[in-house]
Amino acid sequence: MGRVFVAGSINMDVVATADRHPRVGETIAGKEVLYFPGGKGANQAVSAARLGAKTTLIGRLGKDAFGAELKAFLSDQGIDLGHVQETSEAHSGTAIITVAEADNTIVVIPGSNALVGEDDVSVVPLVKGDVAVSQFEIPLSTIAAFFRRARAASATTLLNPAPAQKFSRELLELVDILVLNETELGLLSGAALSESTDHAGIIEAARRLQASTSQIICVTLGKRGVLALAGSEEMIVPGRAVQAVDTTGAGDCFVGALASQLADGVALREALRFANVAASICVQRMGAGPSMPTAEEVAAVM
Ligand code: RIB
Ligand code: NA
Repeated sequence: MGRVFVAGSINMDVVATADRHPRVGETIAGKEVLYFPGGKGANQAVSAARLGAKTTLIGRLGKDAFGAELKAFLSDQGIDLGHVQETSEAHSGTAIITVAEADNTIVVIPGSNALVGEDDVSVVPLVKGDVAVSQFEIPLSTIAAFFRRARAASATTLLNPAPAQKFSRELLELVDILVLNETELGLLSGAALSESTDHAGIIEAARRLQASTSQIICVTLGKRGVLALAGSEEMIVPGRAVQAVDTTGAGDCFVGALASQLADGVALREALRFANVAASICVQRMGAGPSMPTAEEVAAVM
């Protein structure tokens, strides 16, 4: 059984709940302010760890109250934090989130996450069978160094290019499995995608982006499920109808769950089905990190 190594962001999510989102220039009364451990990297690590994977997180925290709280939460999840450094040069990553009608808007202030550098990933003990996971809330040069190291060790690389931004062909070629949503796929492939784009249109866009025929592209479609392109093979995982209360971190739940299954040697189709169920549980609970399900909870609805 391989390990999951996540190089990524750790944020405190400061969440305001309201009946609806404010318009630009408008002030509205909210209902509650809540503090949840978040950050795409940390969320993905929590997801993998709660699902039973031996998980290591590589990242940076500030020496502040949020940093201490985040560290305590992550350590309670059984995540190896030996590669999480504390810095006095920046505050801990913070996300300002508004949740209304189960949808969110997020402003992320990177803080210490921007300082995760190539040195942080150069000492990570990856071996064959491990899964190296990253996302776009740490510097892209660090991700490339992490994946080069993973490749050299014959570990699997999994990239979640979120929040979406264009990136180099060089980084794309270092990716074994790309997991992204429709918005990210639209931006990166140049295809005009919308809610009404059918499966064939999404697969066509994924094919346009695919760096090589061995690269796997998984497109998460929210309540419509997941589409994957694996070589020339196409896989469809139907969505699960659930009552969403907060979708924050659902994509991260999917990524961490997929990594946990692949590290465990589970075949792709089954791993996608498992990750889809995990994400459907995550959206039924408030918050990012604390909403990640356990293996027992996923098994109960598989
Ligand atoms: O993907 C959700 C995450 O994005 C939140 O936890 C927030 O911290 C932002 O990084
Ligand atoms: Na959630």
